[in-house]
Amino acid sequence: MKILFLNGPNLNLLGQREPEIYGNTTLADIEGKVRERAAELKVEVDFRQSNVEGELVGWIQQAKGKFEAIVINAAAYTHTSIALRDAIAASGVPTIEIHLSNVHAREKFRHKSLIAPVCRGQITGFGQKSYILGLEAAIDVKDA
Ligand code: DQA
Repeated sequence: MKILFLNGPNLNLLGQREPEIYGNTTLADIEGKVRERAAELKVEVDFRQSNVEGELVGWIQQAKGKFEAIVINAAAYTHTSIALRDAIAASGVPTIEIHLSNVHAREKFRHKSLIAPVCRGQITGFGQKSYILGLEAAIDVKDA
């Protein structure tokens, strides 16, 4: 099984960015933890980050037929991007939405996710563990 992890804007700054909200862990650290767990579960992962909405859209489009699930932290695009939502719907690849912080406990503009209705589910608020939970959910989605 191959799972595509996508990370949206500013997640390349994890570790330096608002550590009181996002912690001190870098995206590379998180990727390492995901790869460790993926090896235990015997699944393959591809892990990518982009600050560019169109690049994320392209990756979602190309996932069809290559990946059995997508785990996405769309970051701020979660709350703004109809393009990402349409790409997820069009690809038909089962997608899990994840967030480090609990978006529902933060500013009102973060309470709305435009991608949630086209995702299988949402994992939010568990810090870097959200990525591991996302990986496990992606594996379960395939068997569902
Ligand atoms: C985030 C939450 C978003 O609201 C925010 O724009 C991010 C990160 C999270 O992982 O908690 O950049 O997706």
